[in-house]
Amino acid sequence: MDTIANAITIERAKTSKIDQVDFNNLAFGKVLTDHMLVCDYKNGAWETPKVVPYQPITLDPSAKIFHYGQSVFEGMKAYKDSEENVWLFRPLDNHKRINISSKRLAIPEIPEDYFMEGLKALLKVDEQWIPTSEGSSLYIRPFIFATGTGFHASPADEYKMIIACAPSGSYFAGKVKVLIEETYSRSANGGVGFAKAGGNYAGQFYPTQLAVEKGYNQVIWTDDNTHEYIEEAGAMNIFIRINDTLITSPTSDRILDGITRKSIIEIAKDENIPVEVRKITVSEVVEASKNGSLKEMFGAGTAAVISPISGFGYRNEEYDLPELENSYAALLKKRITDIQYNKVEDKFGWRY
Ligand code: COI
Repeated sequence: MDTIANAITIERAKTSKIDQVDFNNLAFGKVLTDHMLVCDYKNGAWETPKVVPYQPITLDPSAKIFHYGQSVFEGMKAYKDSEENVWLFRPLDNHKRINISSKRLAIPEIPEDYFMEGLKALLKVDEQWIPTSEGSSLYIRPFIFATGTGFHASPADEYKMIIACAPSGSYFAGKVKVLIEETYSRSANGGVGFAKAGGNYAGQFYPTQLAVEKGYNQVIWTDDNTHEYIEEAGAMNIFIRINDTLITSPTSDRILDGITRKSIIEIAKDENIPVEVRKITVSEVVEASKNGSLKEMFGAGTAAVISPISGFGYRNEEYDLPELENSYAALLKKRITDIQYNKVEDKFGWRY
């Protein structure tokens, strides 16, 4: 049968960079593997994907990505178990989500087999780049952007999907200190906050820079309308534990439907942890911190996995979180990574 998997072409790199990489000291997303997957959209259709040596690309200066920011991306990881088998985590959900993002940005959807078979072909070629050191994995970045040209502010007629990979360690070096943001907004009703659009991240850099100057690692975004409700952290969704209950905001137009987020909700329920997916106000969290019922806050995302928060700033006050022996963050991180690295049975059917 003539499937897309058979049609994918592979051009191998003449030399490998792998010997230059210290796999025991991996930063996040800094070193790219030897190959990448490229798939072009031209004349109204996606062309056959190809695996090629990792290399710069040439674009026309009027390519619409530069002017109108028509671009979406995904974050995924490949994990190697102790027998060197390679696993992905819920990759079909990433495929669905990139198409949800693409639709909102007027980018043509990529068929599932182009995405999945292309990814598998790339991972086979770069398999030895998947780290085995504790806490490391191969971070996978699929992205699609407008290569079609012209200054007319309308969707491009040509696009490119690239999948590039970087063997990576932790996203954050340690616990994360966050600032609850009330001036700037990440997203708005009817906007693109739910999409993994490149511009959603660019728009966060300046407010995050201001927070970093004040000693924080990350901004916690509140709703654009009232700034009363905690929404997400930009690079992660956010979970808050008050007494024994784990709370996270419902997804909406404004919040990314995180794959780690929804997995954590299911694992927590499986652990009989009371979970509430509901709106939560900053005042509730501040009050809980004051009366001692705020036990934990943590971010959850593919890159960040589960990142415990050490404390937060709000209206020039600092609120520290307690050190817990049996934190939900530690328990849930262990459960999700045990599934990802094939250390336990996967009762949810997420491993691929
Ligand atoms: C991910 O968690 O994979 C993301 O895409 C977030 C990104 C800011 C690193």
